[in-house]
Amino acid sequence: MGAEFSKPASSDCALSGGQGSTAAAAAAPSVARAPAAAAPASWALPAYFTSSASMYDAVTVLTLVGTVLAIQGLSTYLDPYSAQRKQAKAQAKLLRERLGRSLVLNEFEQLLASSVLNPREISVSLDDIGGLANVKRDLRLRVLRPLRGGGLRASLWRPVRGVLLYGPPGTGKTMLAKAVAREADCFFLNITGSTVLSKWFGDANKFVRAIFTLATKLEPCIIFVDEVDAFLAQRGGASEHEATLSAKTEFMQLWDGIESPRGARVLVMGATNRPWCLDEAVLRRFGLQYEVGLPGPDQRRDILSKALSRHEDEMRALREGGALAPGDGGVEAALLRDRPVDGLRGARPGEGALTALARATEGYSGSDLTEVCAQAAQDVLAEMWAAEEEEAAAGAGAAGAGRPEQAPPPGRAPRLRQLRAADVAAALELVKPSTARASRYRNRLAPDAAGGGDDGQQAAAAAAAASAALAAAFGPAGFGAAGGGAGGGAGGPGGSQVPLARLAALLQESALFAEGPGSGLPPAAGYGCNGGGNGSGAGGNGAGVGTA
Ligand SMILES: Nc1ncnc2c1ncn2[C@@H]1O[C@H](COP(=O)(O)OP(=O)(O)O)[C@@H](O)[C@H]1O
Ligand SMILES: [Mg+2]
Repeated sequence: MGAEFSKPASSDCALSGGQGSTAAAAAAPSVARAPAAAAPASWALPAYFTSSASMYDAVTVLTLVGTVLAIQGLSTYLDPYSAQRKQAKAQAKLLRERLGRSLVLNEFEQLLASSVLNPREISVSLDDIGGLANVKRDLRLRVLRPLRGGGLRASLWRPVRGVLLYGPPGTGKTMLAKAVAREADCFFLNITGSTVLSKWFGDANKFVRAIFTLATKLEPCIIFVDEVDAFLAQRGGASEHEATLSAKTEFMQLWDGIESPRGARVLVMGATNRPWCLDEAVLRRFGLQYEVGLPGPDQRRDILSKALSRHEDEMRALREGGALAPGDGGVEAALLRDRPVDGLRGARPGEGALTALARATEGYSGSDLTEVCAQAAQDVLAEMWAAEEEEAAAGAGAAGAGRPEQAPPPGRAPRLRQLRAADVAAALELVKPSTARASRYRNRLAPDAAGGGDDGQQAAAAAAAASAALAAAFGPAGFGAAGGGAGGGAGGPGGSQVPLARLAALLQESALFAEGPGSGLPPAAGYGCNGGGNGSGAGGNGAGVGTA
């Protein structure tokens, strides 16, 4: 074969055979002899590759590139956090710039740095939060003042180390924690309970240590643990992994450690919607516990009013900036000022529009109400866009060109009308309370106990009995008084798991999600706590469920 002519005599490289077997093999010998410059341009490449020195170079380069790639691949494989590490390094640099002081961070602290918020970056303040007046006042006095560093010291004036916010989702727990950080001018280290144990499994201890060392370096700092139940649930369940247990124990030890003068202005804030799942030792460390329940009518009015006022302010800013025409956008004055509006569906005679809407939104959380306002505002905007497209289509039709997406000429542009109470009322049809949606969904998944024959009747009777027992046990005391008893008594002997879970759900709906200060927390044993299924029934409150 011609290929053999082109194969350099000295070469034992496997690559060379392939290179030489070109279509023009017969001409190859002359190419090899001729100087490269004399050869046609298209033949220069094969000639280059067939010379033994160049071949050697190419192989070396390929080998080097391969080695570099392999090392990179291997290091990525060996270091599962490499992407996070890269991001964290950039974050740490940013953090340094934002802090105005340079911190020496170890690698785990650097990984965490991406979860730190500077108070200047937090846009929400306590005043933006609707309702929750008592919680906000208490937080201002008991948490904000000490965090700002009051200076007064006495052994009985210990600053609080832990604040627990519990209640249904979307009621403003995260918002509250962020607002406290902003107002206390504190860094905000945001951690999610479930990620500590999943994302960091195996390194959870190092991670936990880094949480506290970083917070101490950033001091004053709030360590906010969202879904704290996922991380600090009752310990010692049969299925509990040793690594999980040790991470929890370490967390608590370090938490106690911030009692020392160093780290004196570090606070752990936790949020959960399943407080009964928390370990007793954890509950004890949360010196302040606040129920952040579903808003009552006045609180709902407050939340709606805040959301609409903010919209009004933003529209004014857009008008002033020239993005909106004068007089465009904004919110109907009667709605903002809670005055009666003619023809508002469901409103009583003489009733203010906000009050009527607040009355119509029973069961809506703060997040649902914000969503209602957003939906209404969006509808007004969509209406303008639709009119714009219609105009453009009409204009284009007249001109004979079909480009409906083209904006109409200025001056003829449709106006953005005001957001009216009727828009909010219409949005209520679309946005339903999320807890109600969730419980309807749950009922569909686990068919109602009442429909389930004997078992169902038992469960219904048990629910009634337990409700009565709970009412007696809790009274108007609320969670604080329930203390360490919460969570005990799960799955007591003779208690069947399914009706109990169902019962817990029923109780949860009837008690936890009820509004007002009198709502006690059910121990809701066995209801979705990690490793909490075999409680001892020791707590007085647990007994109510355990024996039902
Ligand atoms: N009390 C409230 N006042 C004003 N807005 C609220 C309130 N509660 C919830 N929201 C709105 O719902 C969103 C989600 O609230 P969030 O604090 O994350 O709830 P949680 O942490 O309790 O689940 C907030 O960003 C805010 O827009
Ligand atoms: Mg939250």
